[in-house]
Order: sequence, then C-alpha cells, then structure tokens
Amino acid sequence: MAEFDRFSVEGGARLTGRVRVSGSKNAALPILAATLMTDEPCVVEGVPDLHDVRTMVETLRSLGVEVEHTGTTVRTRVVNEDLCTAHYDLVSRMRAGFCVLGPLIAKRGRGKVSLPGGCKIGARPVELHRKGLVALGAEVPVRHGYVEGEADRLHGAEIFLGGAFGSSVLGTANVLTAATLADGVTVIEGAALEPEIEDLARFLVCMGARIQGIGTHRLEIHGVERLDGTTYRIIPDRIEAGTLMAAAAITRGDVELENICLDHLVAVVDYLRALGVSVEKTESGLGCRVTAPERLGPCDLNTHPYPGIPTDMQAQLMAVLCTVDGTSAVNEKVFPDRFIHVGEFNRMGARISKEGAVAIVDGGHRLSGAPVEAPDLRAAAALVLAGLVAEGVTEVSRIDHLDRGYAKFEEKLGALGARIQRVGA
Ligand code: UD1
Repeated sequence: MAEFDRFSVEGGARLTGRVRVSGSKNAALPILAATLMTDEPCVVEGVPDLHDVRTMVETLRSLGVEVEHTGTTVRTRVVNEDLCTAHYDLVSRMRAGFCVLGPLIAKRGRGKVSLPGGCKIGARPVELHRKGLVALGAEVPVRHGYVEGEADRLHGAEIFLGGAFGSSVLGTANVLTAATLADGVTVIEGAALEPEIEDLARFLVCMGARIQGIGTHRLEIHGVERLDGTTYRIIPDRIEAGTLMAAAAITRGDVELENICLDHLVAVVDYLRALGVSVEKTESGLGCRVTAPERLGPCDLNTHPYPGIPTDMQAQLMAVLCTVDGTSAVNEKVFPDRFIHVGEFNRMGARISKEGAVAIVDGGHRLSGAPVEAPDLRAAAALVLAGLVAEGVTEVSRIDHLDRGYAKFEEKLGALGARIQRVGA
C-alpha cells in the first residue's frame, strides 16, 4: 500500500471563478525563525496553513519557544534559551529550517543546526550562509552533519553574498537577521532581491532593527542592542498566485485571483502575456483576472533570480508549454538540475527533450492521463496542472511534496471546477 496520499485528477474541466491566494510560505518561514531574536511575544498573521509552517513551528518549539498556531496566525514567545539544537529530523524535512542558525548565534551565542534537506532539485550548498556568519565573527564548523555555530558577540562587516547562480535567498535571510544584533555596521552586497527577503527586512524593522536599502542588492544594517516583539502580516504568496495563473492558462480558463501583489509577479505576467494569456488588474487593485484563449503561442522560458521568472514557477509553466502549439526552450538558470519532472510529463505524452540545463518542449500534443510521481513541491503542482488537461485520469502520487507548500490546493482548484480528489494512503 502507498505510504503517501495521491491526487486523482480527471482532465477536461475549464477553470472559472474566483480564488483567494494564501500568505507567502517563503516569507513566513524566515520570519518565524526571526522571532527567536526577541524575548518578547510576536504575532505573525497571514501565515499559510501548510506542512512547512508546521515543521517550522515544531522546530521553534524544540528551541524553547512557546508557539500558539491557530489558522493563519502564529504567536511566539521564547521561554527557554538553553535549547539550541535544531535536529536532523526537522531540518532535513525542509531547507528553510536552516534559517534558525543566524538567529541562534546572534541572540544566544550558539546554535547547532543540522545541514538542511528540502526539495531534491539539485545541489543545495550552504557555504554562502557560513561565509556571511564567519564574516560577522562567528565560528561555524560542520561536524557530523551539523553546523555548530558560536560567537561571543557578532560584529559588523562587509559581506558579498553573490554566488555562482546569483544570491542565496535563505543565505541572505540568515546573515541579515544575525546582523541586526551585531555591534556596528554590516553591509551585505549582492543581497537577494526576492520579495520574501524584503518582507523579512520589514518584519525586523518592526522589531526595532535598523536596515537601509531594503529591496536592493545592498543592505546596510546598523546593529542594535535588542529587538522587541511585534505584530506583522506577511505578503501574499507569489508562487501560489503564479501556479493558479498557470492553472487558468493551461485550462484556457477565466479565473480571478484575490490577495495578490502583481508587482511581485511582473516577469511571470509578462511571460504569460507573451504566450497569449490575458492578465488584468481587477478594479480593487488587489487582484487580477486571468483569461486564456484556446490557442496560445510558444515562447522560450528563462528562470532567473528575482525579478526574473522564478525557478519555483519553471515546472508549472512547462506544463502550460506542453499545451502550446510549437517549440519552446526552457532554460533553468538557478538550479540547473531541476528537471526531474520532464520524465513524468513525458509519461503523459508530452514531448520534452533535455540538453544540459535546457529542456526543449515540443508542445501541442494531447496529454493523456497516467500514473505519475511528484518529484518535488513545485513539480507536484505542475503535474496536477497537466492532469487538468490530460485525456482521462491522472494519478499524481507523493502528494506529501505538494502539501509542504500549498494550502488547500485541491479545495481551491475544486472550487474553480477542477475534478480533483485526494486519495488517502
Ligand atoms: C529559496 C527558496 C526556494 C527557491 C530558491 C531560489 C525558500 C524557503 N526557498 O531557496 O523555493 O527555489 O530560493 O529562488 O525561500 N547556492 C550556492 N551556495 C549557497 C547557497 C545557494 O551556490 O550557499 C546556490 C544554489 O545551489 C542555487 C542558487 O544558489 O543554485 C540559489 O539558491 P538559494 O537562493 O540559496 O535557494 P534557497 O534560499 O535555498
């Protein structure tokens, strides 16, 4: 018997209606980690109800934090600073667990954190995190699969965080958060520009941190003695929004999205428009309407760090390309090995060939429902999207990957008319 839930998706339904996007997973996780930086209570609102958040809540509890998690609100209060180890069984479940390292070293002077896990989308090194923390004066040796961070007191430094594939998002989160309590001024050059980092910086400012250059590649942090508790609402999830846009596009549907920030989706919207999809702001300005004509045209897809098309949208947009007449190249610039889903799409009758970090999609051939296995979080969503337009039934197994990062995914698609059912293990 299968160990994990699967989805049974019957193709052919055109999605129509209105759907509300949840708060951002990738903003919530480092922000929750940053609540370790204060002795006072924090309230984080708009937190999506999904597995990765529950894993972060468990991680915080294991580090001596009292956490009340109800619906989309998480309340935290540190009660025991002696617990400084984030164990393998938690951090190996998701990479964002590693974000507790910076806060532990900065606030408690020490932190032992397992090397991270997360999606199997290629190499996931942490040397940029360690480089930044070392520059701030910490020692961060790796022993027996754990990073053992230690510092009497962090001090400001000039740090370049660019890497071979751009900046590290979570590396920036770790170093930025730690630097808020360092002595003196820290300058992070080559900081990640992702909106989730901007949101983290705004959260830290609400706690009393002094940060200049928010939203730019150069963050200047003036260390403060202590941070206060705060109440904060996180941004909407741009990847969930993009995924729902892709769902509307692939089914040639007509869907209105609520609770989105279109400014965070400029490249995705631009790309969808290039395919022939219409994306228009709704009158309130807080939503958008996505409508797709029957015929879309091909267009090459390149993923990049923000503000480019996110690597976390690559698989979902590749699903759309399978339904577009003509050939499109997909060039993955952030995680060059992130193509495990290609084989699964091909099981459904897609014609995709892979050459290095480029996949060539020969689109427009009717997909047929098949048993497929989700290799990672975003690819899981992409396979569901493919199932929405495949002839017959697609069984997507390993839905535990999807549950890590999407809140109520099947309910949301179902409300738009998708025929999708969860089948228990
Ligand atoms: C975050 C996101 C993830 C997204 C990724 C890229 C969260 C919880 N996860 O992951 O969904 O796919 O950004 O937008 O926010 N790298 C190094 N050295 C390092 C760290 C990273 O070379 O020390 C490389 C990686 O191998 C990759 C690139 O840099 O090629 C980007 O990775 P990074 O930004 O660190 O991804 P995450 O922050 O882990």
